[in-house]
Amino acid sequence: MIIFKRPADLRSYLLAKETPRQATGFIPTMGALHSGHISLITKARNENQLVICSIFVNPTQFNDPKDFEKYPSTIENDICLLEQSACDILFLPSVMDIYPNGIDIIRQYDLGPLERILEGQFRPGHFQGVCQVVNRLLEIVMPGKLYLGQKDFQQCMVLKKLISLLGIDTEVIVCPTLREPDGLAMSSRNLRLNQTERKTATAIYHALLTIKDNIKLGDTRLLTQSARQNLSEAGFKVDYVEIAKSETLEILQSWDGTTPLVTLAAAYLNDIRLIDNLLIQAS
Ligand code: PAF
Repeated sequence: MIIFKRPADLRSYLLAKETPRQATGFIPTMGALHSGHISLITKARNENQLVICSIFVNPTQFNDPKDFEKYPSTIENDICLLEQSACDILFLPSVMDIYPNGIDIIRQYDLGPLERILEGQFRPGHFQGVCQVVNRLLEIVMPGKLYLGQKDFQQCMVLKKLISLLGIDTEVIVCPTLREPDGLAMSSRNLRLNQTERKTATAIYHALLTIKDNIKLGDTRLLTQSARQNLSEAGFKVDYVEIAKSETLEILQSWDGTTPLVTLAAAYLNDIRLIDNLLIQAS
């Protein structure tokens, strides 16, 4: 694996290599890699000639400065995992490389309602930050395929929107969420959970599973209300538990029995914010 720190070096290497855009797979990450990330690399490896991963903890997407400060960093281990997963290139830019004009003068994107609901509502500015960094990374890496995890369901939709807004020639491939044996969705933030929090954390998955297993045609509000209540009783501070159309993320309070759905949750255990979601198809 070759490691590039400077965008210009990566660009000249890619130009000289002449791998077709369509055969270049890209996995953007913020490091603290786990098996979920590695599953994206493995999928990209199977589908591309060239696999590029980036690690950059993006300051503009953290609406809470404490979350940014405490974001786990395990770079040595990340490099080992990437070597083992047969990643070709690791891009490790600095803040200056990504934001040459500083982090205050930044472009805004018209993301529509996606930016105002769920994560957008509870993390103002978060998706603008995600779009800023991914736009810049896509300009540098120019991949044909962008691999993202379904755990960040709304982020996947936002980035599809960004790519279509800007007419970028990159296909978004959404890959399934990987889970720990007790159901907890893999996430870099799980590293911050202490033993007790780690045991409690699985309740988010179970709350979503209960919704998925019990949803019926008609009013769905009781289901989401009782999921919120169960999570609060387990010790979470709940931001949201909702059911939405999986194609548009429009939040629903009643189901017609056929529309494909996604149920999503975000909740804090002490100061650690966890998110998860499950797709629901009519049976
Ligand atoms: O999902 C993440 O890790 C980040 O939001 C991303 C896509 C790497 C942008 O910083």
